[in-house]
Amino acid sequence: MWKPPERIKYTPINDDWPTREDAAASQLFSSVAVGSINLSQRTWVPAMVPWRSNEDGEVTADVLDWYRRFAIGKPGAIVIEATGIRDLPSGPLLRISDDRYIDGLTKLVDTIRYASDGQTKVFIQLIDFLTIRRRPDRNKYLERFLGITDNHAIALGLQGESAAAVRANLVALDDVQLQTVLSEKEWEDLAFGYRERVTDTHIDDIAQLPNRLPSLFADAARRAEQAGFDGVELHYAHAYTMASFLSASNVREDGYGGSAASRVRLPLEVYRAVREVTNRDFVVGCRFLTDEICSPGSGVQDALFFAEEFASAGMDFLSFSRGGKFDDAKQPKIGWAAYPYTGQSGYECMPSFISDDFGPYGRNIGPVAVIRQRLRSKGLDTPCVMAGGMHTFRQAETVLERGQADIVGFARQALADPDWFEKVRGGFGGQVALCRYSNYCEGLDQKHKQVTCELWDRSGLDTEEAKVSMSSDGKRRLLAPIWHRGAPMPDA
Ligand SMILES: Cc1cc2nc3c(=O)[nH]c(=O)nc-3n(C[C@H](O)[C@H](O)[C@H](O)COP(=O)(O)O)c2cc1C
Ligand code: SF4
Repeated sequence: MWKPPERIKYTPINDDWPTREDAAASQLFSSVAVGSINLSQRTWVPAMVPWRSNEDGEVTADVLDWYRRFAIGKPGAIVIEATGIRDLPSGPLLRISDDRYIDGLTKLVDTIRYASDGQTKVFIQLIDFLTIRRRPDRNKYLERFLGITDNHAIALGLQGESAAAVRANLVALDDVQLQTVLSEKEWEDLAFGYRERVTDTHIDDIAQLPNRLPSLFADAARRAEQAGFDGVELHYAHAYTMASFLSASNVREDGYGGSAASRVRLPLEVYRAVREVTNRDFVVGCRFLTDEICSPGSGVQDALFFAEEFASAGMDFLSFSRGGKFDDAKQPKIGWAAYPYTGQSGYECMPSFISDDFGPYGRNIGPVAVIRQRLRSKGLDTPCVMAGGMHTFRQAETVLERGQADIVGFARQALADPDWFEKVRGGFGGQVALCRYSNYCEGLDQKHKQVTCELWDRSGLDTEEAKVSMSSDGKRRLLAPIWHRGAPMPDA
């Protein structure tokens, strides 16, 4: 992963945990309305893909166990990982693309409700993504996959020669020469792997996205409501289809690209389609970026406009992330697909402990605060969720006290210690296992390996082995150990 050149090392802040009484009086542990429902506290576990599903995208026993473990900590809300809305094989990514998934998803909702004593609300993140392929082997690409055109023959002075002869000549070139013969797109397909963009409107499926996506999202949301979820989070963030429509790099000429008003058109149409098929008390919100952190990309000015559009349209919450784009991703190894969290934009999405003068904690607070302030100045009271490097009570409480956000997301901190919420609420903050922001978990995600945390995945194996389910490599426990309550901290 990209790291800031300053390479300053940070350790998580570990002070000022509240007593049970202080926690009870805090904003963080006060309730908040999200649409027509109430969260019991202003804490939120943002979507995290843990690679616990199977090739059919089903809710497996491992998926249930994973979310049960988070629910035991009783956060205000859990957003289930990015879940595919198209009925296509997508590896072990959870799917909601057909009615056959409703039973499994119902079990998932019931599991979280039961384990949290009904304290935790459950949303599911709905995702669409475009085709991306692995980086090919050079010779295989040139000998088999590349479509030979007149441009290649002309560049090589081989007009009239067979495609096989052109291919043989291409293979013999060094990379510098090859790059001058291939088009920019062909070179990218070879060097990074084939990747579709929303601007590839010469491909019919891509041209038709504005016609197809609203009903795909709407059908998925209807299933989510049937399965008993409290709501859905439309995934308009990071490197995926809807974020690409919002992106300043979207220059489609069909009314869905170019100006910010045209780029937000499909996300609004998707939202309206979802609203049409769900009841008014079903929560519908979205996650999008305060800043794409790459060029050409949307920045805070665009996000201000999008936020106002989404809030005015009636969205029940706005959740903010930043970065996480393919555009600045590192070149993958041969046989691997590009991963959108390897460049600077990826760093801004999941900052690690090796950072710059600002540090890895709360890098999105400022932009979210500006956006929230704009909404309030326009009389829009849509709750805003911020995340990124949040791990202490004081950090979160300060954000709320200053009116910088309404709800605080803890992603990796909840992975490091799913009991954070119960510990801090009960006056046991000193027992929290703090996330180191090592991004070991993110490294596993990149390899599509079952995500675990280095703080706990090798612990207690000898004593609890018989009861512990292990990762498929047999080395790591799949779930954080159970917390045994100690005495609460004495009152200050
Ligand atoms: C393993 C892993 C998987 C993630 N999967 C998703 C996802 O499915 N959808 C999403 O919007 N963000 C995803 N994220 C990003 C997190 O939701 C969050 O925005 C990010 O980790 C920064 O917050 P944090 O500092 O609290 O971890 C993922 C992060 C991790 C570490
Ligand atoms: S592996 Fe654990 S400690 Fe490291 S970043 Fe992930 S959650 Fe935090």
